[in-house]
Amino acid sequence: MIFLKKILIFLSILPLALPQEIFDPDTFPRPLIIEINEPHLKEVQLQCTSWRVAVEANNLSPWKKIPEECGDYVREYMTHKGYEIDLQRVCNEAGIYARSVNMSGDGKIAWIFDVDETLLSNLPYYADRGYGLEIFDSTKFDEWVEMGMAPAIDSSLKVYEEVLSLEFKVILLTGRSERHRSITIDNLLQAGFRDWDKLILR
Ligand SMILES: *[C@@H]1O[C@H](CO)[C@@H](O)[C@H](O)[C@H]1NC(C)=O
Repeated sequence: MIFLKKILIFLSILPLALPQEIFDPDTFPRPLIIEINEPHLKEVQLQCTSWRVAVEANNLSPWKKIPEECGDYVREYMTHKGYEIDLQRVCNEAGIYARSVNMSGDGKIAWIFDVDETLLSNLPYYADRGYGLEIFDSTKFDEWVEMGMAPAIDSSLKVYEEVLSLEFKVILLTGRSERHRSITIDNLLQAGFRDWDKLILR
């Protein structure tokens, strides 16, 4: 992991500790900077960024797990600022759009939210499975869903509140199965979502 970072070692203090006579400007003309750089790791980063963007743009054919070499990259993205900033950007755009809609019609304007990875985050589930390094296991995922512990995605909760205050009707549309209706309702309420008009399950 240490090689992920550019390591700069400044040896400029070294001459101070040496006898004056060897401090010859021709042989020791500058603070010595040793740069250890891993071109290979830069390449992996670029490959993984390219893979992620292709996934997000839905340009990849169906895939089962993240590429082995992207494990560190995806974990870093999901758990540090990257994912959060991307969520904020999308939610900000959604808010701008919501405020631009002319609501003075027949009151039949609805806003549809997906549930998983839109309102609720299953990141804790994926964190235990290498952030996608393991093949998706629907039985284990169902067990996680049935715990009803998925946290809200904060920036989505803000959009949700704004959309409600603008008096959109809110419809929740999810690929979760009908048998998970009550745990899904509990989970949504506990995460701070409220007052939806309809929850449509599979
Ligand atoms: C909003 O819609 C109403 C009714 O459809 C219309 O009369 C009004 O001009 C619209 N307002 C704007 C700002 O477009």
